[in-house]
Amino acid sequence: MTQNSLLITFEGGEGSGKTTQSQILYNTLKEKGFEVIKTREPGGTKFAEIIREILVQGESNKISNISELLLFAAARADHVQKVIKECLKDNKIVICDRFTDSTLAYQGYAGNLDLDLVKEVNRISIGEISPDLTFIFDIDPTLGIERALGENNKETRFEEKDIMYHKKIRDGYMDIARDNPDRCVVINGTIDIEQISKKILELTLDKINE
Ligand code: TMP
Repeated sequence: MTQNSLLITFEGGEGSGKTTQSQILYNTLKEKGFEVIKTREPGGTKFAEIIREILVQGESNKISNISELLLFAAARADHVQKVIKECLKDNKIVICDRFTDSTLAYQGYAGNLDLDLVKEVNRISIGEISPDLTFIFDIDPTLGIERALGENNKETRFEEKDIMYHKKIRDGYMDIARDNPDRCVVINGTIDIEQISKKILELTLDKINE
């Protein structure tokens, strides 16, 4: 099958269902015969996974906002250079669980860093690539946090930040969706899993066939 490269990103607050849905999309595209890889941020390379551990574990205020921004950027630059760029060069479909919009929503909108500064750091970390399609999962943060903390993992550094932080993330994502209507689709994270995956597949196939 001939195909063009595509970078699809899954975004949203905690417990919004994006990881489940990115896995479903990956499985379905693979079954249909597409060359597809699934990766995540922070992470995706050995180096970036080490940075991930620092960022997502431990006490929620242990790192300053600016250090956090730069650590996410360092992890991303490695991931983009070693994995994403190479896959796109090979005309693969790349599904990435979180990407630059997470940095804008979390470190920018919620962390109160200057949004232009965050955009500039994002630009430096990704170079000339950019997402073609972004699904933004929307959920009431109170419900999302409850879901996420029920998952029994130790990566709870962000989940443990106060509810105002998570409300700002949600508002930030809505701004991002509004500013980028050509690539962003907002998905209601509370509706039925199958209904969501059907819609995501439909929109992805439309993008592939564009
Ligand atoms: P996860 O929820 O997808 O496992 O992501 C790990 C955490 O890292 C999540 O709480 C959101 C946070 N994060 C940021 O704050 N900024 C970023 O740029 C990325 C990629 C993730």
